[in-house]
Amino acid sequence: MNIVLTGPPGAGKGTQAEMIAASYKILHISTGDMFREAVEKGTDMGRKAGEFMKAGQLVPDDVTIGIVAERLAQPDCEQGFLLDGFPRTIKQAEALDDILTGLSQTLHAVINIAVPDEVLIERMTGRLTCSGCKTIYHRTFQPPQVEGVCDKCGSSLQQRGDDTAVDTAKNRLAVYKKQTNPLLEYYKQKNLLVNVNGQRSKDEVFAEIRQNLEAIQ
Ligand code: AP5
Ligand code: MG
Ligand code: ZN
Repeated sequence: MNIVLTGPPGAGKGTQAEMIAASYKILHISTGDMFREAVEKGTDMGRKAGEFMKAGQLVPDDVTIGIVAERLAQPDCEQGFLLDGFPRTIKQAEALDDILTGLSQTLHAVINIAVPDEVLIERMTGRLTCSGCKTIYHRTFQPPQVEGVCDKCGSSLQQRGDDTAVDTAKNRLAVYKKQTNPLLEYYKQKNLLVNVNGQRSKDEVFAEIRQNLEAIQ
């Protein structure tokens, strides 16, 4: 099964992606995670992408499309994949159609997690991520058992660079509305769009996603 997970920043894409990938045994491909890894490693691409991320802007389409095309061509994607945070522009969506045609693959669903703006800012600014296994927590909504320590692997928890300032979080939201929101209409036209209410517990959101995926399989 090949799925796109979309929605505004802080909607819970990464949180749900972990659960979907584990449950359906498909690959979780997050362009945000790929860029953050490149930033940590200090590669040329990471330095370039990092500037855009710090400002809450999108990394240019040519760079993003290039890394996704390369990743989807790997043999492990044949078992099915879940794209988290890609596509984010109409140009990226059209490029994805071409990439998949070239690989004789298709998309089976585009899941949109909808959450109101005021909740999103609170989710982003309170988020903590494990420095080791990348599990996502929240200071209030999803706290670890021991403060600052990952329940799963014991590594330290850290705050993402683009989550520290409310202004950057607001900017990411504005960028989403302008550049990514039009994708909902694009995928609605293709009969692939599934809207999910993301303003509930993560288990309730997952149950709704699962229900929709069962109908597709
Ligand atoms: P990316 O990493 O994709 O960030 P994003 O889209 O802004 O989304 P987030 O990761 O912030 O939120 P999420 O929906 O995954 O929510 P999460 O599960 O963590 O992109 C970062 C940057 O990289 C971009 O700004 C851009 O610069 C660049 N980039 C990436 N892809 C790109 C592309 N295709 N093109 C161009 N540039 C690109 O949850 C958030 C918080 O809420 C957590 O603390 C979590 O614990 C909590 N939470 C989750 N679910 C619930 C729930 N149900 N109830 C209560 N709390 C919850
Ligand atoms: Mg994410
Ligand atoms: Zn961990």
